[in-house]
Amino acid sequence: MSEFIPLARPVIGAREEELILETLRSGRLSLGPRLGEFESAFGARLGAEHVSAVSSGTAGLHLAIRAAGVERGDDVITTPFSFVASANCLLYEGARPVFCDIDPRTLNISAEAAADAVTDRTTGLLPVHIFGYPADIPAFERLAADRALWLVEDTCEALGGGHADGATVGARGNLSVFAFYANKQLTTAEGGAVVSPSAETKERIDSERNQGRARDMGWLDHDRLGFNYRLDDLSCALGLAQLERLDEMLAGRARVAGLYGEALGDVEGLTVPCPDEGGDRRGWFVYVVQLPHGVDRNATVVAMRERGVDAKPYLPAIHLFSFYRERFGHREGEFPVCEDVAARSLALPFFPELTDGQVERVVEALREVIERPA
Ligand SMILES: Cc1ncc(COP(=O)(O)O)c(C=O)c1O
Repeated sequence: MSEFIPLARPVIGAREEELILETLRSGRLSLGPRLGEFESAFGARLGAEHVSAVSSGTAGLHLAIRAAGVERGDDVITTPFSFVASANCLLYEGARPVFCDIDPRTLNISAEAAADAVTDRTTGLLPVHIFGYPADIPAFERLAADRALWLVEDTCEALGGGHADGATVGARGNLSVFAFYANKQLTTAEGGAVVSPSAETKERIDSERNQGRARDMGWLDHDRLGFNYRLDDLSCALGLAQLERLDEMLAGRARVAGLYGEALGDVEGLTVPCPDEGGDRRGWFVYVVQLPHGVDRNATVVAMRERGVDAKPYLPAIHLFSFYRERFGHREGEFPVCEDVAARSLALPFFPELTDGQVERVVEALREVIERPA
């Protein structure tokens, strides 16, 4: 049988090995020079001045909402169609995620639904750029200004994206959080970064990621509550090497997305990711289709696996997780667009080095399963 095609695979080459080995041999494995180098290089790439590298996207979200001013008992408006971390981080601080439905085209939180959901208890907004497609941040910025709310962008999936007004996703001057897990556009194995609007906010985040120690404080002196959310120098070295090939990797993802789009566009009932519209530009992260209504997704996953192709349901609706149902009383039917999309979504193998032949195999397997179910 031909080789199994996995869902994701990072691009790792000689440069990654070189920088990691160099760092390993330097003996400076954490809080060394690679940290600042990676932050500067990532910031330069993004066009943002104040970047704090952290141990994960989740850690970054936690620090970002604290810096934004979240407090126990606050309501924060966010999307139910996301990776669970964007809602969980609110629970760490005793805030409540208030979900609203998504836009059926972009799959991002609807700005109108968010505006309707604001109450006296709302203090913040946490939109997510899902699957790398830019959320309508200009609308969220207006809402935040009108209702005196804070705004944190979850840009974990959207490296390489751009807004219609010319701004790079994550570099609009809002607190924004990227993630560098192994399946992301750029990886540090585990890791993330917070983009801050000011040097003051960056200083707070740098301190809180390092147990509350301020930059100019002495050894083991701590002036606030903090965490261990540091990113080590080996991870930063990996990130530096990845940054050098980021354009090439993004182009690789866009190429694969183009091939899938061409090959799957005519499958009846299948929804492919929306094309860029109105000047917004997706930073390609995953290739997620919505299966036609009535197609059994679990059976599809099994049948594709039998054909040597990995495929996974992605993403489930957060409010329908048992933990969220039990804690907040959520139930089916609350967010119909999200629930319909979540029930039919299937991620296909997607990484820069997928060959034309592999894409063909994935497409053939999917077509066979959908068009001629057993
Ligand atoms: C939208 C979104 N938010 C947050 C995260 C959390 O990032 P991490 O896994 O690095 O903690 C992810 C990671 O997959 C994500 O996709």
